[in-house]
Amino acid sequence: MKKTTLAGGAAVIAGIIAAGLLWQNGDASADDVANNQTLTSQPPAASDAAAVARGRYVAIAGDCVACHTAPGSKDAFAGGYSISTPFGGIFASNITPDKETGIGSWTERDFYRAVRHGKGKEGEHLYPAMPYNAYVKVSDQDMHDLWMYMRSVKPVRYKVPETNLGFPYNIRLAMMGWNLLFFRNSGFETDPGKSAEFNRGAYLVEGLEHCGACHTPKNLLGGDTGDYLQGSNLSEWHAPDLTSNRTVGIGSWSKEQIVDYLKLGSNHVAVASGPMAEAVTNSTQHLSDADLRAIATYLKAQPASATPPPSPPPRDSAQMKTGENVYSANCSACHNSDGKGIPNLAASLANNPGLLADDASSIITTVLQGGRGAVTQGNPTSGAMPSFAWKLTDDQVAAVSTYIRNSWGNAATPVKADEVAGKRRLLQLPDQMAAH
Ligand code: HEC
Ligand code: HEC
Ligand code: HEC
Repeated sequence: MKKTTLAGGAAVIAGIIAAGLLWQNGDASADDVANNQTLTSQPPAASDAAAVARGRYVAIAGDCVACHTAPGSKDAFAGGYSISTPFGGIFASNITPDKETGIGSWTERDFYRAVRHGKGKEGEHLYPAMPYNAYVKVSDQDMHDLWMYMRSVKPVRYKVPETNLGFPYNIRLAMMGWNLLFFRNSGFETDPGKSAEFNRGAYLVEGLEHCGACHTPKNLLGGDTGDYLQGSNLSEWHAPDLTSNRTVGIGSWSKEQIVDYLKLGSNHVAVASGPMAEAVTNSTQHLSDADLRAIATYLKAQPASATPPPSPPPRDSAQMKTGENVYSANCSACHNSDGKGIPNLAASLANNPGLLADDASSIITTVLQGGRGAVTQGNPTSGAMPSFAWKLTDDQVAAVSTYIRNSWGNAATPVKADEVAGKRRLLQLPDQMAAH
């Protein structure tokens, strides 16, 4: 079974490479060249101070530090963090100005090609784990400022381990075909029919902030499907629908409630956790209020996804009864019997669209491993939830997840025990019996 999948994959990839080779003739324009910019790799001069300061904001909006810093490391941008993909782990590069192990000998042109077009210094294809398909929309001005800032950070001598994916994904040339299929080589275009605020929001969400990297569903080859921002699975997590859908999307949130979430890490119902807590902590909390409002304006303008309202299980099912018991014994102290939680601390489980998608990954992961809300300047005392992996069986976790998804006016598909077992394996948590 596994062999046929592999062979099939290889054939697909071979086809993609062939398509890419044919296409390469037309690829010259992909290397946009900043002819009018300096091509040296000297550190920025005193006169570049304003550009460096602006570039710092660009780097925050792009959240470069999230991937390019190893977990727990003090060496910002020195790389070494492995991004997990369905094809294997991909190490993010050292992008400090160290001459040997970083990008210290790069020119501004090399940098533009990497960030906006996914090409390494020698022209080799980068994996799209580096979100160049979003950064292609970054303006020349922001790229120049970003370059100035990146040249000003502390050089760190650190050789990142080599990424080694299994065949056929180890063929970097295959990315040429990937680009043909999924990379739209075009910069950001202002929509003259829309307000300046909408356009600023579009520029940030589609480009620097690369929100679609997590929130847009992917096909089998890791390319975006057409269901823009309609919610996506990130193995442990589910990144919810961000369209105006009123049940599983954020159609019922006001602009202010979206801004609160991105600035404080929580709002009237939701608390950002997991990868979103990182995005808020590193990036969105630092954006100006005007930029956050622009993002909210853009999101509110996204037409509702067609995802139908979920259908609930019978309210008197045995699973719902078990779930209710597990809930009152383990959860109601923090989340309350009315499911409303503690504002800005323990997420509300009532009226919280992020919990109602068919994909219950975030709920299962949070119950099994516990969690911590985003820590922000505006809300420095984020709440923490304990892990229940040691205490609850897979059946109990499935039951309580089903119960919270179908109480207080909620309705969503039931959660099955084998989904919980799968997450337990993924998170490498022992099962309830083994923990005793
Ligand atoms: C979601 C994760 C992620 C984010 C965010 C990200 N990168 Fe990357 N980046 C990567 C990965 C992974 C690689 C290595 C790709 C490969 O090996 O093919 C990479 C490679 C690069 C390279 C090529 C380095 C080399 O030695 O070839 C540069 C330059 C770069 N990134 C700059 C940036 C900048 C600047 C930002 C912010 C605007 C950024 N990256 C944000 C994941 C990311
Ligand atoms: C690294 C992946 C990642 C990136 C990048 C990301 N998100 Fe998220 N986002 C998530 C996940 C996962 C959740 C669910 C968090 C949870 O359950 O607590 C989430 C939750 C949200 C929510 C709450 C939705 C709800 O119904 O509860 C909003 C709003 C949101 N993200 C907006 C954004 C915006 C806007 C951007 C870009 C500025 C963005 N996200 C970038 C992964 C990401
Ligand atoms: C000690 C207090 C506490 C207890 C007990 C507790 N929680 Fe939580 N819970 C929190 C806090 C704080 C958050 C927000 C931080 C986070 O998401 O990790 C949260 C978040 C959540 C979320 C939202 C996850 C997301 O995607 O954002 C769910 C679902 C949840 N809890 C379910 C439960 C269930 C089910 C139980 C009982 C088995 C439980 N909690 C017990 C404090 C608690």
